[in-house]
Amino acid sequence: MAVISPIWTSVAVGLLTVLYVGMRKETPRGTKSLLKIPLIGDLHKSPVGKPLENWDAWVEANGPIAVPKLFGIIPIVVLNSLEAVTELFSRRSQWYSNRPPSVSMEMITDAKPGQSKFTLMHDYDDHLKLHHRVLAPSLGATAAPNYQPLMELESTQLLFDLCNVVAEFPEGISTAAVYSLLERAQSSVILALHYGLRIPRFEEKILHEVIDVQTQITHMAANPGLPDMFPPLRHLPLFLSPWKRSADKFYATQVDLYMRLFEHGKESAGWNATKQAIETSRRHTTDRVPDIDLAFTLATSIQGGMETSPRQLMWLFIAALHRPSFMKKAHTILDGVVGRDRLPRFSDRPKLMFVDAITHELLRWRPISPGSIPRRADKDDEFGG
Ligand code: HEM
Repeated sequence: MAVISPIWTSVAVGLLTVLYVGMRKETPRGTKSLLKIPLIGDLHKSPVGKPLENWDAWVEANGPIAVPKLFGIIPIVVLNSLEAVTELFSRRSQWYSNRPPSVSMEMITDAKPGQSKFTLMHDYDDHLKLHHRVLAPSLGATAAPNYQPLMELESTQLLFDLCNVVAEFPEGISTAAVYSLLERAQSSVILALHYGLRIPRFEEKILHEVIDVQTQITHMAANPGLPDMFPPLRHLPLFLSPWKRSADKFYATQVDLYMRLFEHGKESAGWNATKQAIETSRRHTTDRVPDIDLAFTLATSIQGGMETSPRQLMWLFIAALHRPSFMKKAHTILDGVVGRDRLPRFSDRPKLMFVDAITHELLRWRPISPGSIPRRADKDDEFGG
């Protein structure tokens, strides 16, 4: 997928996998056991506000794999070297491609265990493989160059909007003002690519519907509810389950939004990922893939892309304020390669290695998802003896 690069950058920085294979009785050879306190396990070592603060120290003490225990019971395996990540997530990927169960995420997509309608949370089975194949021609690495003109268009408007807001408030602009411009640009790339729908202004009603749904999903992912801790609660009948009632309501809101976007994609002029997904799904299976499943698969990109890139880009402004010298150097290089009569294009990229390096450093310095999105280990395993 085109999203592989940021994904791997953050994966390489530090990975978190929750093991559901039972408690390991022995500490792996060559590693020291972390100090565990009953109930909270190793959690006391990582402050709530900065849960990843001790990872470096853990790695120094334990090697590339540390195994703190959540509540002293659930081992969380932290992979902290590129070798460990490549070995487990690439070479042994058949054991590490599922996610830890998230009952809430399944309930809000009206799905059974492991079958969330968002590909991100779906178990790695034939259904997911089919849906990845369906997305590949529009989001895969080879497809990415096709939508460079769209990204160039949105970057141009982003620059124009930023210049206007700076001119309007010469005394300084707020984080919120900058963020909304980034959010508009990013949503426009995603919605145009997936549904042929541009977002020319931040005030567009559909953008705010998308943001509202996205905000609720992010909130749920960050705040697991009771059914996540006691999964049998998902089976309570509707009249006894406030969780099911609210999940059903939210599912209906999402169906309404994603199906409207899907229909827009089908009807709008020109190529888009919705049309591509429908066509590819017909080529890969004789059974018709239900529209609702395709609509949620396409909407996974809204969940994946709306907040991530804008948040990551905010760190560029912070870096530029703290270290203006690298911006000065970048400007000099841009002036030499591109000149001052036009904007940079993707075709300039091979000559702009310094700008590429800034992007990589930004992802390394402040990865917005340093723990990645947890994967589950489906068997007991050994790494490095
Ligand atoms: C800085 C930006 C981004 C970061 C840090 C990021 C991070 C991630 C991570 C960590 C995962 C899970 C990887 C795994 O365990 O397999 C993921 C999955 C995903 N991301 Fe991103 N992402 C970013 C931008 C985007 C954008 C712009 C899009 C859409 C246009 C997107 C769409 C997706 C999708 C669809 C998945 C799920 C893939 C699947 O079906 O498994 N992401 N992302």
